[in-house]
Amino acid sequence: MADPGRRFLVVGASGLVGGTLFSLLERLGRPAFGTQAAMRRPGLTGFDLKDDRIADKVDPAFLSAGAVAVICASICQIDRCRRERDAARVVNVGHTIRLADDLRARGIKTVFISSGYVFDGARGYYAEEHPRRPICEYGRHKQAVEDHLLARDPEALILRLDKVVADDPAREHLFTEWHRWLAAGKPITCIQGQVFSPTLVGDVARAVVRAAELDLKGVYHAANPEFFAREELARQFAWALGREPVIVSRPQSDFAFDDPRPEKTYLDATKFVKAADFRFTSMREAFGAFRARLEASASR
Ligand SMILES: NC(=O)c1ccc[n+]([C@@H]2O[C@H](COP(=O)([O-])OP(=O)(O)OC[C@H]3O[C@@H](n4cnc5c(N)ncnc54)[C@H](OP(=O)(O)O)[C@@H]3O)[C@@H](O)[C@H]2O)c1
Repeated sequence: MADPGRRFLVVGASGLVGGTLFSLLERLGRPAFGTQAAMRRPGLTGFDLKDDRIADKVDPAFLSAGAVAVICASICQIDRCRRERDAARVVNVGHTIRLADDLRARGIKTVFISSGYVFDGARGYYAEEHPRRPICEYGRHKQAVEDHLLARDPEALILRLDKVVADDPAREHLFTEWHRWLAAGKPITCIQGQVFSPTLVGDVARAVVRAAELDLKGVYHAANPEFFAREELARQFAWALGREPVIVSRPQSDFAFDDPRPEKTYLDATKFVKAADFRFTSMREAFGAFRARLEASASR
């Protein structure tokens, strides 16, 4: 049964996903409370998974049964999760689980943002039930939280995302990095063999709201059904911006990463698309929106 009136707590509302979700909730006029760790964005409350308990930071009237908490907070840098393994595990696993338990104890629904990095990336086109075999520490963190929620919280929703992109040239994401390289006449460097489902961050935000309204439970893939080799996406992006792409593709071994990246992480989102009657934005539309915003800011 759809419930359009739920209160939202966005944990990690300063990030790409959480920030976009928080802005969408504000635009929709939904009661929303957002947290951040580093206190960069005005209007959000400080909450650091390292040190804080949620009940000490959020108004108890807000933190009560019927609310939805979307856990977007995470250490997301793949190599950092490996280099600072113990500290990152405390944040991404131990204290994320503690947060989820604190929420469940108050009758709050948890939406946990997970990742296609729970898969090993050998096969691609993963459905929800495919076996998870993460090959990097970050993926193992996500798997551990998923396992906890699946075992302990039948109300929880796990939304797995693949590569998130945005159409806002003023924010830091894959397309802004590529645009900088193109504008500087530099080649776009890509990891060979990577195939992903680039998903517009605005779609992720809409997907979270829709899933909460429908009170979905269990695991869903919220990812664009389109999928691209990284080089191919870069090429199409450059053409959409009216530039001639120069792409350099190198094997992963050339990048000196601290932890390996799974190669084919694209997700089968059929279950979510059907359950939520959801349409994802195509990359052609996303490129068009990026270009329009770029042109609008240049003419100001
Ligand atoms: N972006 C992608 O392509 C992608 C793909 C798949 C899955 N995901 C998942 O989606 C979620 C959001 O990702 P994102 O791209 O929005 O990441 P992001 O931009 O790096 O944002 C991360 C958020 O986590 C918060 N955070 C970090 N450390 C924290 C701590 N110790 N305590 C409390 N909050 C902390 C950050 O707060 P501060 O800004 O205050 O530090 C920020 O709000 C993550 O779970 C990520 O794993 C992302």
